[in-house]
Amino acid sequence: PSTTTGLHTHLPFPFGAAVSVNLMKNNPKYRAVVTNEMNSITAENAMKVSALHPSKDVFTWADADYLVDFAQQHGKRVHGHTLIWHQSLPPWIENFSGTKEEFELIFKNHIQTIVTHFKGKVVSWDVVNEAFENDSPALRNSVWRRILGDDYIARAFQYAHEADPEALLFYNDYGHEWGPTKRTAIINLVTSLKQRGIPIHGIGMQMHTRYNQSDANLAAAINTAAATGLLVHISELDISMNPEKVQGIALTPALAQLQANRYKFIVQTYNAIPKAQQFGITTWNVGDADSWVPGFNGAPDWPLPFDRDYLPKPAYQGIIDGVQ
Ligand code: G3I
Repeated sequence: PSTTTGLHTHLPFPFGAAVSVNLMKNNPKYRAVVTNEMNSITAENAMKVSALHPSKDVFTWADADYLVDFAQQHGKRVHGHTLIWHQSLPPWIENFSGTKEEFELIFKNHIQTIVTHFKGKVVSWDVVNEAFENDSPALRNSVWRRILGDDYIARAFQYAHEADPEALLFYNDYGHEWGPTKRTAIINLVTSLKQRGIPIHGIGMQMHTRYNQSDANLAAAINTAAATGLLVHISELDISMNPEKVQGIALTPALAQLQANRYKFIVQTYNAIPKAQQFGITTWNVGDADSWVPGFNGAPDWPLPFDRDYLPKPAYQGIIDGVQ
């Protein structure tokens, strides 16, 4: 049964989070937030290459299937993350030493086996994730690009589309809101794919952002993506409140309110793009207890709309206020 209350019911577009299989199974408060507040989920790790395809002839579906079954039972959309990425690769891919032709077949089989397995259950995919370098217009020298050439990106979309012509296919990356350098390169890439007739349907902008990012940069990220005419997914939203990595600080009420205002601004800006392009907003993780940010930064942080006890923070109301 789908829920009739919760954060997603206040919003005119889908709202979800990246979820962990382990926490879905073992933390009832976490599971209740996902069940009640979201109508879309992304697997935080369970659909990555190393999780699904640990060796050449082995695909391991149990964790990803668990999330898909949960979503089907509770009427939630599943967004797939991610078919092709330079991280979370198993050693047999990372260290591949055969021919280009062999690797092309592995690449095609990887994409098509996964998309076929989830056909009709996973409505959309991050086909390629983070192909560009940090804050740069240069493509990363991932194993995919090194062996297959720059146009692996286009072929990944074609292979995915062949396997499931109904699936909505996204290019996903981060840093759109940092400034024009990488953003322009991403927009040029997706525009050129679209012009060539490559089956791309959307832009995922991760938006791992921080409390002091400017309105102008956030708006430029969202509006430039919308100007392509593609679907726009804010795919990994979180707002760091301690990007300076200060040790031993706490989230004060004033800081929590500042965060609410930043969530509100992002939702407001997103809500103003054409309705038909609003694929939805997904936060990366569910509550501050499971956010990847404190571990990554090595400093306390509270980037999400739910707190360490999975209770709503002021940011929760900020999100609702963004569509009023
Ligand atoms: O599950 C294993 C565990 O068995 C093992 O003992 C342990 C030892 O390191 O590793 C565990 O796996 C870790 C996994 O998270 C689950 O916790 C991996 O090492 C670790 O690399 C992995 O990190 C994930 C990271 O992507 C790399 O895949 C983060 O959870 C996840 O939040 C993060 O998500 C990314 C998005 O996919 C793309 N955009 C950026 C975002 C944040 O970095």
